[in-house]
Amino acid sequence: MDVLNEISKRAKEIGVEVMKGLEQGEVPKLQGAVRHYPEGGGKRLRPVLAIAVAQAIAGDSGKRMAMPFAVCLELVHNFTLVHDDVMDNDPVRRGRKAVHVLYDVPTAIIAGDALFARAFDILATADVPSKHLKRLLSITANTVWLIAEGQQEDMDFERTPAEQLSVEDYMRMIRKKTAVLFECAAEGGALIADASEEQVAALRDYAYLLGMGFQIHDDILDLTSTEEVLGKPIGTDIRNGKRTLMVLHALSTLPEGDKRRNDLLKALGNESATKEEVDAAMSALHDSGSVEHARHMAADFAARARKDLDVLRDGEEKEFLTALVDYAVGERAT
Ligand code: IPE
Ligand code: IPE
Ligand code: MG
Ligand code: MG
Ligand code: MG
Repeated sequence: MDVLNEISKRAKEIGVEVMKGLEQGEVPKLQGAVRHYPEGGGKRLRPVLAIAVAQAIAGDSGKRMAMPFAVCLELVHNFTLVHDDVMDNDPVRRGRKAVHVLYDVPTAIIAGDALFARAFDILATADVPSKHLKRLLSITANTVWLIAEGQQEDMDFERTPAEQLSVEDYMRMIRKKTAVLFECAAEGGALIADASEEQVAALRDYAYLLGMGFQIHDDILDLTSTEEVLGKPIGTDIRNGKRTLMVLHALSTLPEGDKRRNDLLKALGNESATKEEVDAAMSALHDSGSVEHARHMAADFAARARKDLDVLRDGEEKEFLTALVDYAVGERAT
């Protein structure tokens, strides 16, 4: 299966519905800010996941019923990106100026709120039994709460001495800021398709594992990709002092006084670090084996995720969900 082609085909179809959901509004500046990231595209992985799960269980009617929920997830995701770029002070997203740069920080805050509101308005239109709708509302709202907790920890960790943070702290933080939205997508898609509780639980676990691998890989891409490919700047995690798995690994394995350790510490959390200093920190993370270690961890999550798909019958959607895991943790360019 050509997974890239398959994702982009599905993403396009979802994109049309996302933009339809953002047509209404009376204040042009806010409209522009709200539509800016959705127009920029992105991979649309969360809605793609929700729909693939619903379709795997209930076929075409599952797909149709899951669309409003899928659009809701993409709007929630875009809302978090608008705010994330303010928090991370990142100027570029999806190859275009970040909302807070193109407009200003207050507009980015308001646009995020507006996207969040519209997401739930669209979810309310889902043509599903009311017991499902109640649970969808509850898991989605709870997910946004957890994302807020994860994002708060992500920010607080920047100012926490790395030796006080464990790998468990990192894993808890990325589960909340990233994996929970994938979990919500899979659980919601399965509910909409009237899956058994056993299937719901397995698919949620699949998405948890996929989401963990996905964020570890996102952290790797910040060191190994390019802005042209990624559509967002690289190296900013180092300047921001993000406590990624690689940073924690390097600092727990490199001895005091080691040149690589010093190179890393010089740029980590140093907003005025020069490009050469950031490059040296990146090399240190490679040379310490920390990037390789993170790749192994991501691959491990992926292998466990694939096993959860045993609850699905064989078919195109199961094949797609299997390929999606590999894509999420490494085969993707962006
Ligand atoms: C970016 O998500 C934020 C993370 C959780 C790493 P994506 O990499 O899915 O971004 P888009 O939607 O494709 O732009
Ligand atoms: C983003 O994590 C998580 C959320 C948006 C909730 P990152 O900060 O690593 O995402 P990018 O790298 O800016 O896309
Ligand atoms: Mg960011
Ligand atoms: Mg961030
Ligand atoms: Mg990132």
